[in-house]
Amino acid sequence: MIREKHYCGLDLGAQKIKAGILKVKDATQMELIGIYEQKTAGFRDGAVSDLGELSDCIHATVHTLLQKTNLKLKEVQLGVGSELIEIREGGTTIPLVDRTNKIITQRDMKKVNDQARLLSLKMDEEILHDLPQQYLVDEVNKALNPGGLYGRKLGVQSLMIFANTNRIRNIVRAVHQAGYEVPNIFFASYAAGEVALDDAERAQGRVLIDIGARATSVLLFQNNILRRLKKIEIGGDTFTRGIAEQLNLPLDLAEEIKRSYAATLEAYHSNDEEILVKRDSAYKPVKGKDICAAIEPQIQELLENIQNVLREFGVLDDLEMGIVMTGGGSLLTGLIERVSQATRHPARLTRMNVTSARSPGNAALFAGVVGLAKSGFKQSLRYALSPDGHWRANLANRFRELYHEYF
Ligand SMILES: Nc1ncnc2c1ncn2[C@@H]1O[C@H](COP(=O)(O)OP(=O)(O)OP(=O)(O)O)[C@@H](O)[C@H]1O
Ligand SMILES: [Mg+2]
Repeated sequence: MIREKHYCGLDLGAQKIKAGILKVKDATQMELIGIYEQKTAGFRDGAVSDLGELSDCIHATVHTLLQKTNLKLKEVQLGVGSELIEIREGGTTIPLVDRTNKIITQRDMKKVNDQARLLSLKMDEEILHDLPQQYLVDEVNKALNPGGLYGRKLGVQSLMIFANTNRIRNIVRAVHQAGYEVPNIFFASYAAGEVALDDAERAQGRVLIDIGARATSVLLFQNNILRRLKKIEIGGDTFTRGIAEQLNLPLDLAEEIKRSYAATLEAYHSNDEEILVKRDSAYKPVKGKDICAAIEPQIQELLENIQNVLREFGVLDDLEMGIVMTGGGSLLTGLIERVSQATRHPARLTRMNVTSARSPGNAALFAGVVGLAKSGFKQSLRYALSPDGHWRANLANRFRELYHEYF
């Protein structure tokens, strides 16, 4: 039986650092214990711009959360945003034997995966996720899990998510300086899928759209794995900039107005109601419809991009496919309905599929950190089953594999 353990997710977003702690009994019993977020100025355009400021901010965020929850943890499951990642598909084929056939083992699968990864990896990159999509036995037989099949050649096609090595090193350095270890690094939007979608949805097929501050990630989950991933360079801050420019307002005021008054539904476009906006110690009236008009071009651009990505994924006309939206940007009033109209798919805001004694916070903002904590737990299960796991089970497995390899 697995002991009750706590996992802390740390999401280094473009706008905010967020942390969350999950208490995990087993794969079905997880409880969200606490969440906390803080703004940072030490992290810009996906890179560390001020190491001291960033590590102070990470320390303050995690430390506050640990104090609030009365816990002592040394490790954080780190998540990075879409600005840091590169997505590529890659693959290769390796020979298994000279003559006849052999039974394909887990070792063969690992060998072909390692080979495909090495071929795709650039000198200054490291891999965050290597997701085999399909194996090919003897160039004809497609298999999701070829272990136990006979074959002479084994091929793989994978979806890989990379990040720049130095950028990652600098971020990890900031976390170390803050006083915490980093056992795992994940792409935060991918990790969000762990809690935003349940098992049935991941198997059946769902599109997860994460609208962050600077960018949007579109992820297609099908047959329990991430099939496709695409970035769109429009995020919640793009709407804020639209309001600031069109209404000639400073960014922080535009941000406040966006959250309280901006909306993307048709009904709001004829809204003549005025709000008073404080500008240079005077109040200036702004009409509701002008706020909506200020963000409409960016909304249109985002919707067109989402349509194009779904078309590229081959799911735009698949009406069964539902969309789940997450990230702070998806909280803009009416945006979910607009995405649903534009794609003709049902769309809903994310939920967090974990229990919580207190209010779990806004799921759109915190699905990422909770997903990171859950990914950390799942990774620890994988380690337990890996060659470093239980020696007796591994030894028996290795003997079985050796037998297949030579006889
Ligand atoms: N209630 C709201 N209404 C509209 N927009 C909102 C609301 N709350 C947050 N946002 C917007 O969400 C964005 C931040 O979202 P989020 O916290 O998911 O980003 P992040 O994780 O820091 O960034 P990224 O994922 O790009 O690295 C900002 O642009 C913010 O203005
Ligand atoms: Mg994010």
